[in-house]
Amino acid sequence: MLQSALPTGLILGIESSCDETAAAVVAAGRHTLSSVVASQIATHANWGGVVPELASREHLRNISPIVSAALHQAGIQASQLDAIAVTRGPGLAGALLVGISYAKALAFGLQKPLLAVNHLEGHIHAVLLEQQSSAPLPMPALALVVSGGHTHLFLAQPPSSGAAADEPLWRYTLLGRTLDDAAGEAFDKVAKLLGLGYPGGPWIDRLAPFGNPHAVSFARTQVKSKPHLVGKTPRTKGAITSPVTALDPRFLFSFSGLKTAVLRHVDEYGMRPAALVREQHLRSLAESGLRPTLDQVRSRCDSATLDLIASFQAAVVDNLLHRAFAAAEASGAQSMLVTGGVAANSELRLRFRTQADRSGLPIAFPTLAMSTDNAAMIAAAAWPQLAAGRFAPLDLEADPRLVLA
Ligand code: KG4
Ligand code: ZN
Repeated sequence: MLQSALPTGLILGIESSCDETAAAVVAAGRHTLSSVVASQIATHANWGGVVPELASREHLRNISPIVSAALHQAGIQASQLDAIAVTRGPGLAGALLVGISYAKALAFGLQKPLLAVNHLEGHIHAVLLEQQSSAPLPMPALALVVSGGHTHLFLAQPPSSGAAADEPLWRYTLLGRTLDDAAGEAFDKVAKLLGLGYPGGPWIDRLAPFGNPHAVSFARTQVKSKPHLVGKTPRTKGAITSPVTALDPRFLFSFSGLKTAVLRHVDEYGMRPAALVREQHLRSLAESGLRPTLDQVRSRCDSATLDLIASFQAAVVDNLLHRAFAAAEASGAQSMLVTGGVAANSELRLRFRTQADRSGLPIAFPTLAMSTDNAAMIAAAAWPQLAAGRFAPLDLEADPRLVLA
C-alpha cells in the first residue's frame, strides 16, 4: 500500500466503449499505477465482429472485478482516489452505458468528482502519457487516430501556459476523417473474407511479410476520397457522425472502395472456396481451445492469398501515410503521433517512421499494449479536467456519436 507517499491527482479511468472492459489508475496524468484490460475477443470471434448485445453483457460481467483489480494493482483503496474518469463516447450505446453507470455510482458513493472523456482524446493521450519519460513532442502535433471504429486526423494543441486560466484544456481541430469504413474495419472485413480470425488486423499484419505487396495493384481511385460525399454525413460502423463540409478533401479517407476491390479480386481469382476451408480449419482449432500459430495459419494460405494480403495492407498504409503527412504539412504541425489499434501495425510503424525521418518531423507511437483500447489513456486524458475543476454532472449520459473538436 502506498500509505506514506501517496501520489496526488489519482484518477481511476474506466473504459467500456467497444469490446474491452478496462480500468486503470494514473497519477496526475503522468504515472500509470495500474492498467487492467479484459478483452472480449473470444466472445465475438465466432461472430466475426463485435456483437453489441454480447459486448454489454460482457462489460456487466467484467466491470466490477476489473475495477477491483486496477485498485489492487495500484495498491490503493477507492477512498484514496481523487476522481473517477469514464469514456462518454463515441462507441456502442449499451457498452458505454455500463462504464458510465458504474463510474457514476462510484463517484456518488465515494463523493468524488466525475470526469467525462472522449474516447478519441483518450487514444491521443495514450501517446502523450508514454512520452512523459522521453523528450516532449513539439507542439502542435498532427494526431492520426486509426482504429476499428475511427480514422481521424486532428491538430492537437496543449493548454497554452500564458492563457492557462482561460483555456486549461487541450484543443483539437478536426482536419480529416473517413467517409465510410474505418481503417481497422477494412482490415477486419478483408481478414474475414479471407477466412482469417477476428480481429483480422493482427493476422494481416503477421502474414503480409510473406506476400508481395506489388502483386495486386489497387488503383489510387479505390482508396481516394469521394468528392461527391463531401458535405454529406458520413456513416461509420453503423453510427451517423458529423458532416464533413468544412474539411479539405485531401484529408478525407475512404476504404470501402478498396474493400470492394479485394472482394472482386477474390471472386475473379476463385479464392472463396479456399478461404472457406481456411476459416473452418481455424475455427475447429479455436473450438478445441487451441490458438492457431502463425505457421499454422500461414501454411493454410497459398501465395495468391499472401500476395493479396500484402498488397491490401500496403494500400491502406500508403493511403494513411500520404494524407497524414500532407495534413501535417498543411497545418504547420511540429510533430506527429499515430494511435489506436491499427497503430500497432508493423508496416505502418516502419513506413511512418521512415517518412518522418525524411521530413524531419518527430513522431511517436504508443506501445503495443497502449495502441488498443485501455483505461490508462482515459485517466490520463482526464487529468487536465481535474486540474481545471471541469467536472461532469452525475446525470451524465453516454454519447455514442460524441465528436472531438
Ligand atoms: O483501438 P481499438 O482497440 O478499438 C477501437 O477503438 O476500434 O482498435 C481495434 C482495431 C481492430 O480493427 C483491429 O483489427 C485493429 O485495431 N488492429 C490492427 C492491428 N492490431 C489491431 N490492425 C492492423 N494491424 C495490427 N497489428
Ligand atoms: Zn479505441
